[in-house]
Amino acid sequence: MSEYLLEMRGIVKAFSGVKALDGIDLQVRAGECVGLCGENGAGKSTLMKVLSAVYPYGDWEGQILWQGKELKAKSIRETEETGIVIIHQELMLVPHLSVTENIFLGNEITTLGGIMNYEAMHQRARELMLELKMPDINVALPVSNYGGGHQQLIEIAKALNKKAKLLILDEPTSSLTRTEIRILLDIILELKKKGVACVMISHKLDEIAAVCDTISVIRDGMHIGTRPMGELSVDQIITMMVGREIKNLFPRETHPIGDVIFEARNMTCYDVDNPQRKRVDDISFELRKGEILGVAGLVGAGRTELVMAIFGCYAGRYEGEVYLEGKPMHIRSPQQAVHAGICLVPEDRKRHGIVPLMAVGYNITLSEMEMYSHWGVLNPVAEMKAIQQMIDSMHIKTATPLLPIKGLSGGNQQKAVVAKMLLPKPLVLILDEPTRGVDVGAKYEIYKLMFDLVKQGVSIIMISSELPEVLGISDRVLVISEGHLRGNFINEGLTQEQVMSAAIGQAEVLAA
Ligand SMILES: Nc1ncnc2c1ncn2[C@@H]1O[C@H](COP(=O)(O)OP(=O)(O)OP(=O)(O)O)[C@@H](O)[C@H]1O
Ligand SMILES: [Mg+2]
Repeated sequence: MSEYLLEMRGIVKAFSGVKALDGIDLQVRAGECVGLCGENGAGKSTLMKVLSAVYPYGDWEGQILWQGKELKAKSIRETEETGIVIIHQELMLVPHLSVTENIFLGNEITTLGGIMNYEAMHQRARELMLELKMPDINVALPVSNYGGGHQQLIEIAKALNKKAKLLILDEPTSSLTRTEIRILLDIILELKKKGVACVMISHKLDEIAAVCDTISVIRDGMHIGTRPMGELSVDQIITMMVGREIKNLFPRETHPIGDVIFEARNMTCYDVDNPQRKRVDDISFELRKGEILGVAGLVGAGRTELVMAIFGCYAGRYEGEVYLEGKPMHIRSPQQAVHAGICLVPEDRKRHGIVPLMAVGYNITLSEMEMYSHWGVLNPVAEMKAIQQMIDSMHIKTATPLLPIKGLSGGNQQKAVVAKMLLPKPLVLILDEPTRGVDVGAKYEIYKLMFDLVKQGVSIIMISSELPEVLGISDRVLVISEGHLRGNFINEGLTQEQVMSAAIGQAEVLAA
């Protein structure tokens, strides 16, 4: 009997002739958690799709051994039956089905007569919600009633319900709050004790360090190395991932900051479903030319609602005034905002950022169609040139600009979404969680790009839930908590503790 629960040997997977995986090996023992690390586009998700038979046997080369025997699974159902369960990077829930129905989709509990046993399923779903410390979820309601973080945990509940022997988590924490992340990491530790193995993919190396026993790094579809976690520092993992040393994660550069260019006054947003409730309560702030304004706060604090209202796309009722270069703006749609010089890169890439089946290139020029048309006639040469420049300058990894954007790795999709909003040359660029799901190397590139932009006089509002990033990049930091502005700090000597205590409502607002 092999010492491994799972062995993948020499896995090769190509997409239209281009090798995404070029001979990868991976071993996992029972009860072991392996952290799979690598840059955007390295092949992490593809490798896990091979393992879970999203790409069935025959679609790739190499060998998979499961408990010592060769596994030739043709479908996800088959791998699930053997005990391999995957939680995908992008949410896979069916929005209009209830929480219970989603958890039991394709796996329903039936009575002897073959009738759905809703009683039993609701009961089990409620137990799972308790296990995941979400007692308030009503399992009979559609999942679309719940936000991204909750949905992610529901997805995890669905996987837990399948009695996995090997659980694959592909960036499971990207839309979770700190508390939710802690709950998930604890669950992984519990599962390990029960002998369940895990493969965890995450760009947040502190999470990897917290639960993984072994680190396996891949780069450009090739296996770079596998080492016990205890032997590696986070810096060493980064070096293995990017193939060079990154000394300073935050390339903060000094740059001139001008006069106030943008102002939001008395912004208030009402909840979509409950118009009595304020999601944003009377927030006012200013932004200077060439300034990077970080917006910190806990997930759900109202930050996204605030910037969506500024951009003219908040779904509920909202009030407030917006001034650009001293002039009042009446923005009621994203088109008007872009036209006025305000661009927003949204948080939820899958819902608001991309047209999945459209080519990478055309996704990038989507907001700027008029620029490439003359009296309604498109100029394809100019358009292609602009696209290629963006792809090069942002190092977007794609076989061709004509590949449907769906085929790009998560992080590269994110870069394309940022690229789209840079083309209109905005005065004010709003970035909502711009580096979510983006690897360390690409994060560095996005920061560099932000500094290039502010040096050219662009002003940036950056929402981020990662405090080191907020403190590493911003000139000034706003802290928002439960819809209220709790702090406005010049970022000089500012600490994580100061920001956190403002976010949980302890510090008073300091005039900046
Ligand atoms: N369906 C597809 N069609 C064409 N190319 C694809 C497809 N899926 C993945 N690729 C390519 O395979 C490579 C590996 O992608 P993969 O999604 O595995 O990366 P990843 O390591 O998970 O990155 P990320 O951290 O950004 O999620 C990328 O270059 C990607 O463009
Ligand atoms: Mg991926």
